[in-house]
Amino acid sequence: MTTEAPDTLSDTVRLHTQDGVVVLTIDNPPVNGLGNTVRAGLFRGLEYAIAEPQVRAVVIAGAGSMFCGGADIRQFNTPAAAELPLSRDVQALIRHANKPVVAAIHGAALGGGLELALACHFRVASAQASLGLPEVQLGLVPGGGGTQRLPRLIGARAALEMIVQGRPVDAAKACALGLVDAVAQGQLLAFATAFALEQAAAEGSLPDLHGRMPALDEVDFAAVRAGLDPRARNHKAQKAAVDCVEMACQHELAHGLDLECEVFLKLVAGPESHALRHLFFAERQAPKFEARIPADTPAIASVAVLGAGTMGGGIAMAFANAGLPVTLVERDQAALDRGLSLVRRNYGVTVEKGKLSPAEVEARLARIRSSLRLEDVAEADLVIEAVFEDMAVKQELFGRLDTLCKPGAILASNTSRLDIDRIASATGRPEDVIGLHFFSPANVMRLLEVVRGERTSDAVIARCMAMAQAIGKIPVLVGVCEGFVGNRMLTGYWREAWFMLEEGARPEQIDAAMKRFGMAMGPLAMADLAGLDINWATRQRLLATWPPGLRYPRVADRICEAGRLGQKTGAGYYRYDNGSRLPQPDPQAMAIIEAAGAEAGFTRRAFTDEEIVERCVLALVNEGARILDDGIARRASDIDVVYVHGYGFPAWRGGPMHYAGTLGLEAVLARLRALEAAHGAQWTPAPLIQRLVADGQAGF
Ligand code: NAI
Repeated sequence: MTTEAPDTLSDTVRLHTQDGVVVLTIDNPPVNGLGNTVRAGLFRGLEYAIAEPQVRAVVIAGAGSMFCGGADIRQFNTPAAAELPLSRDVQALIRHANKPVVAAIHGAALGGGLELALACHFRVASAQASLGLPEVQLGLVPGGGGTQRLPRLIGARAALEMIVQGRPVDAAKACALGLVDAVAQGQLLAFATAFALEQAAAEGSLPDLHGRMPALDEVDFAAVRAGLDPRARNHKAQKAAVDCVEMACQHELAHGLDLECEVFLKLVAGPESHALRHLFFAERQAPKFEARIPADTPAIASVAVLGAGTMGGGIAMAFANAGLPVTLVERDQAALDRGLSLVRRNYGVTVEKGKLSPAEVEARLARIRSSLRLEDVAEADLVIEAVFEDMAVKQELFGRLDTLCKPGAILASNTSRLDIDRIASATGRPEDVIGLHFFSPANVMRLLEVVRGERTSDAVIARCMAMAQAIGKIPVLVGVCEGFVGNRMLTGYWREAWFMLEEGARPEQIDAAMKRFGMAMGPLAMADLAGLDINWATRQRLLATWPPGLRYPRVADRICEAGRLGQKTGAGYYRYDNGSRLPQPDPQAMAIIEAAGAEAGFTRRAFTDEEIVERCVLALVNEGARILDDGIARRASDIDVVYVHGYGFPAWRGGPMHYAGTLGLEAVLARLRALEAAHGAQWTPAPLIQRLVADGQAGF
């Protein structure tokens, strides 16, 4: 009996028959995600192909740029994810098919996409394909059989490497591992169809992983667990992934699949995976900026950096690393030599670590041209100023750049706190002036605050957002205010750390509590690292307009007045012996702290970790809400990206704004009111939080 091929399988899966082979093509842009309609389409197509006697084999392929990017992450924790058929129903249908089912992989087969391919009898791939199970990056384990089938196919050791690191392999490696059966010569679909027909004609039964069990003794699972980094953002998922692969070596496949599913469901419902998925989308949304760039605008092909200090050298490296020529300009030879030798030293460390070859370093260094003449920036498409943090110095420099630089050049400042509009006013082309706030070390840190001035043109913003991504940064668009997003929030965070010092906490206690919360560094060790003088100068600048009645952190001034400016002077909130970077508790610092506390009228009292964390983190949240209300950040998730990538906020908590949502804004508001009653006006709840709570919103 011949059944009619269904006209349509679903909106997202197409069927055509060629030489007796049914080709099912997933067409669900942008990444052919395995949403409910794709699963339904594949199921119907497979049912038809299995029932139809004329069909000899099935090929599953992807339309567009890839085979399949995996499960539809947006459908997780939604009813659509539970809609039938599930991935496992599709996989069961393939297993019981009486004809070969071949995955034809081009582009990427990731996560659920690779799991679909693993459930097929055979896999062929184009030479450029990449295959991986990156679920751990989202705080998950593969939940569609990946942890059970992959070890059966390529062995436990190789599977662990792919699953626990979440890193994909290319087609050649996949072939060597036995993950794909053949790498396509010529056109993939024709190759896959011929391969499928060959298998259909072959004697013997189709491969079935159900009969296989990977060797348990191939891997020392306890040692793998012990080797995991407990501070990794996805530690919990990595540990669960090791457990799952171990289970694959201990149980029949059917039982292993059930166990894996249980682990997946637990992780997908947990706060860590929620936070990591939130960040996954936040990082992809932050760089988006729709603006029409005039067609004749050239791409940024050359860059000039002014100032070869801490920031300038790192910024020059960031561009040289991305293949762009950079002119690095200093005001005198000694400063230039210092800057260049620091750049060389940084590259040297990379070579020592085996991350770069000496030849590659030479190529990068050759892209950095140094100069003492400001005139040498005249032809650059983008000029980034990274000189002293002083308005008069910057304005004078921008005035000169205005006369020197070619029309259409972007004039950027790396200022960390100063007013971009005032800097722009020193030029006759404020539409070309923008802030590009890199983070230290600029060649390493991925965050870039792109500061839009009042008159910065949309085209200049769009070009900078695109440039940032081209050099591997995550740009976040922010507005002009004291400290923009990151440093403005840091002010409140440090303020609470200082106040708690005055009230009775010790530096190492505050830092330890915040590290236990998950911060990469405690606030006071971080202040010592950054240098206390910059903040001291900022406080002095702000003192003239300090609101009457608002508490002032005198301890921060007293520490600086004692000549303790942080690591660079060997002492700050801690001491640093003989150039060491390791903070040591210091009785002399404690004496200054205690005196400042007494001066502020406090009798020292004990602090718990909970109180320390609450005051530091809610200070971030409250200021973040004001920043949103002021329109300085475009979205709450942008603030999360800034804090995770610029300030070491734990990714598995999703950033301060996401974290506030996990506490519930009503609870946050109640705590802010209590803190206001106990400590004063710095805790007045942000109006946005009050409005959201009144509207019944639990998060930002
Ligand atoms: P730095 O003091 O290490 O370096 C500044 C360099 O600029 C010095 O080498 C100086 O000789 C040079 N310079 C001064 N006037 C110049 C001129 N007219 N032409 C050419 N070179 C000139 O300072 P740093 O830390 O690199 O900071 C630079 C800028 O970056 C500041 O605006 C700062 O606020 C900002 N920034 C600093 C961060 C940090 O962590 N240090 C982080 C982000 C931004």
